[in-house]
Amino acid sequence: MLVTSRSFDEYRAFFGLTDDDLGRRVLDCCAGASGFTAVLAQCGGQVVAVDPAYAGGPDALARAARDGTSGGQAIITDHHDRFTWRWYGSPERRAEMRAAAQRAFSADVVGRSGGYVAGALPALPFTDGAFDLALCSHLLFTWSDVLDQAWHEAALVELLRVAAEVRVFPLVVQGTGDDVPFLADLVAALRERGYAADTVPVGYEFQRGADRMLVVGHG
Ligand SMILES: C[S@@+](CC[C@H](N)C(=O)[O-])C[C@H]1O[C@@H](n2cnc3c(N)ncnc32)[C@H](O)[C@@H]1O
Repeated sequence: MLVTSRSFDEYRAFFGLTDDDLGRRVLDCCAGASGFTAVLAQCGGQVVAVDPAYAGGPDALARAARDGTSGGQAIITDHHDRFTWRWYGSPERRAEMRAAAQRAFSADVVGRSGGYVAGALPALPFTDGAFDLALCSHLLFTWSDVLDQAWHEAALVELLRVAAEVRVFPLVVQGTGDDVPFLADLVAALRERGYAADTVPVGYEFQRGADRMLVVGHG
């Protein structure tokens, strides 16, 4: 799995984040080498990033982030007809955003290492209700070709243990952008457990048709 570096602006768009949302206690799970935590922390936000890759130390992380950038580009090249550049404007603009995000991450992970916690779903190293909002960018559903429905349900229940609300983007499989066959069943299973679960449109599209997030909260 790639360790990628999406930016604060991309996260804002993926998750429809308002200024009020950004004032809440936020968890970025699976944060990878994203610049979101660095930028939000610089603006005074209460934010923690968690990812299993943080167990590897700064050099391994920097290498993984560089590999993530080239690996992500290869996925786009292989499936170029499944992407639209409307939101980014151009491939160059997207590359600039990612490079800036990676620089922000690299500086913050060294200078403010307490904000970056090694941990993995479906068992996070946080107490119940430690966060108001958990954001999950490009792990759940994205890698549903290797992580099954049972894993997704366990991961979401764990995120709802530590956070009042969970937002997940995107809701399609990486590369092809195919629909996730078990998404509707998973939403039904979450509702049966008593959670409020809905897919909500967002103002961002890169993989064609990937313009919704999943929002789950305590019902
Ligand atoms: C495609 S990257 C996304 C990174 C970042 N959220 C972004 O959008 O750029 C997926 C991340 O999931 C992390 N990951 C893999 N397995 C995980 C797990 N079980 N729990 C939490 N994160 C995991 C990987 O280390 C990787 O950094």
